[in-house]
Amino acid sequence: MAEYVISAAALERNGKQLREVGDAGGAHMLIALKAYAGVPGLTYLKRYAEGCCASGLYEAKLAAEHVGGHVAVYSPAYREEELEELLDIAHHIDFNSLPQWERMGELCRNHPRAQRGEVSFGLRVNPGYSTGHTPLYDPCAPGSRLGVEASRLAEAGPDLLRGISGLHLHTLCEQGAQELMDTFRAFEKSCGALLASEDIRYLNLGGGHWITQPDYDRAALVRFLREVRERYGVEVYLEPGEAWCIHTGVLRARVLDIFESLGYRHAVLDVSVSAHMPDVLEMPYRPQVYLARTDCSEPLPASSSQLPAVCLPGEHYLQAGMAEEGEYRYRLGAPTCLAGDVLGDFSFPCPLRVGDVLVMDDMTHYTMVKTTHFNGVPHPDIVMLHPDGRLECTRRFGYEDYAKSQ
Ligand SMILES: Cc1ncc(COP(=O)(O)O)c(C=O)c1O
Repeated sequence: MAEYVISAAALERNGKQLREVGDAGGAHMLIALKAYAGVPGLTYLKRYAEGCCASGLYEAKLAAEHVGGHVAVYSPAYREEELEELLDIAHHIDFNSLPQWERMGELCRNHPRAQRGEVSFGLRVNPGYSTGHTPLYDPCAPGSRLGVEASRLAEAGPDLLRGISGLHLHTLCEQGAQELMDTFRAFEKSCGALLASEDIRYLNLGGGHWITQPDYDRAALVRFLREVRERYGVEVYLEPGEAWCIHTGVLRARVLDIFESLGYRHAVLDVSVSAHMPDVLEMPYRPQVYLARTDCSEPLPASSSQLPAVCLPGEHYLQAGMAEEGEYRYRLGAPTCLAGDVLGDFSFPCPLRVGDVLVMDDMTHYTMVKTTHFNGVPHPDIVMLHPDGRLECTRRFGYEDYAKSQ
C-alpha cells in the first residue's frame, strides 16, 4: 500500500525556525491550513505557531478545535451563514471586496464579539505588483479577483471603511525576503497613508515566504518586520503554509509493472500524480525521486549524498536523475486512464524491479489537502514518524471512502 510519511522531527525543525523569525521580528506567525491540515502533524506544529490562517469556515473550525490561538480568516467571498459562524470563532476576518464589506459590515460591527474587541475586520489589497512567474499562483496577475485594487482602496471614504482595522496582502509564492520588500514598497505608494492612519491596527503579510529554505535571507526579513511594525504602529502577521512543511514528508509508492512501449520503458506505480501529487501537474514541477532498497543480495550503487525527507531504518536510497543522465531510464506513470498522469522521465543507477519502493520527496504541503479518489485508485495511507522513531498510521482509506466521496 502506498503511503505518505511525515516526520514530526522535521515539522518541529521548521516550526522552531519560524518561531525564531517571528519572535525576532515581533510578528505573529500563523499556519496556513490550506497547505497542510493534518491533525497529527499540527499537534507538533502548534507548539511553535500563534494560531492559524483559515480559508473559510471548515479550516477555521479545525484551527479552533485542534490548534487554538489566533484564527485569521480570509476568503474571496463569504456566505452569510458562514460569516455568522465565523464571527463566533475568528479573531480576524478579512474581506476581499468593498461591495462584500458594504453588505456584511453591519452584521460584523454589531456582533457582540466585535463590540468587545474580540474579532476585527480587514480588507485584502491587491498591490498590483507581480513578482511571481506562474500566473496560476500570482494573485497580482492581470484580471485577478483576489483583493481590492490598491488605488480603489486608497480612494474609499471613511464611511465605507468604518469598522476596518486591518490590511491583508498576499502576493508571493515560494519567494524570498527581497520580493516581499519590493511588493511592500509598491503597496506603500498607494496605501501607505491608510496604513499609517490610526484606524489600521494590523497588517497581514500573507504567505508565500520560503522562510525555512536554507538560502532565505531571514535576517533581512526580521529587519523588515521590525521596521514595518515601528513605522506604522501595527501588529504584523505572517501566514506561511509551505514553509512549515518544507522537506518534512514523502510519498512512498510501489512499482506495479514495467514494460516497453513506443520507445519508452514505462514503470507504472500504485499512485496517481493527478490524484495524489496534483501540484506536480498543476504547477508544474518535477519532484526528487529515490529508489529505496533494503536487500543487499546484489551489490548496490552507493547511496545518494542527498536523502529524502523521511528515511526509514534499513533502507538504502538511490536518487533518480534526469532521463538523459543514466542508462536505466523509466517513464514513471500512474495506474489511471489519464494519458498525462505521468511523473516524468527519470534515470536510476540500477534497473527497477516490480515491487520496488519509490520515494517522492517533499510531499507534505499542498498534497494531502488536495488528494482525490480519481479512478478509484486506493488512497495512500497517512503515516506519522514520531520523534522516538515510532511509525503510526493515522489514517487508512478504503473502498468505503471512495464510495462515499462519489
Ligand atoms: C491568503 C493566503 N495566505 C497564505 C497562503 C499560504 O501560502 P504558502 O503556502 O505559499 O506560504 C496562501 C496560499 O495560497 C494564501 O492564498
